[in-house]
Amino acid sequence: MNLIAPSILSCDFSRIGEEVESCLNSGADLLHVDVMDGIFVRNITIGPPVVKAIRKCTPLKLDVHLMIDRPLRYIPEFLDAGSDIITFHAEADSPADEVIDLIKKAGKTAGMAVSPNTPIDTVLPYLDRLGLVLIMSVEPGFGGQSFMPSVLPKVTALKEEIERRGLNIDIEIDGGINDETIAQAKKAGANVFVSGSYIFKSEDRKAAIEKLRSIANGFD
Ligand code: DX5
Ligand code: ZN
Repeated sequence: MNLIAPSILSCDFSRIGEEVESCLNSGADLLHVDVMDGIFVRNITIGPPVVKAIRKCTPLKLDVHLMIDRPLRYIPEFLDAGSDIITFHAEADSPADEVIDLIKKAGKTAGMAVSPNTPIDTVLPYLDRLGLVLIMSVEPGFGGQSFMPSVLPKVTALKEEIERRGLNIDIEIDGGINDETIAQAKKAGANVFVSGSYIFKSEDRKAAIEKLRSIANGFD
């Protein structure tokens, strides 16, 4: 199933409660929450207290994307804050097995992310225990960047491997997704589409989400 996940990184943080509510009212399937620590990436965004506050504002599943160094340190806090999916980066310095164990023991979905230059082979040893793989289609750190089509072969290779092993894993693509790039991502094999600036800058968010969904569904 195709899922549309607005990234609240592009929202108006002075009205975060209303912005989160508007995602649900506009038909979002998941709420994508970008956590950045100023070390793993240049930007600093939000931490567990804000995730906890968002949790109180919405019944939407929280898809928490950790762009942080040594994610193992913070998994308990993000679980307590009410995350449903926790995705950590393959490039971050933590034992991936332990991170996945901790998330799964809490009954939540573990995701692993790869930045544009990281080969997809990096996630394959963990595939059987993941619920989601996130392929970055921009360098992590900021919203509003341009989609990098060069990552699409990784999406296709991952989809083939998931099918070969008979697994049921979501392939999420994140960065520069709009009504043009989503078709390429879908055709390559992605089924969860993060979109920040395209959705939040559009005058009619509901129409923007519906448009993205109908383009993706058109290739099923
Ligand atoms: C980038 C973040 C993305 C970003 C997406 O590091 O992981 O989730 O907010 O924003 P757009 O859709 O504007 O590229
Ligand atoms: Zn993200």
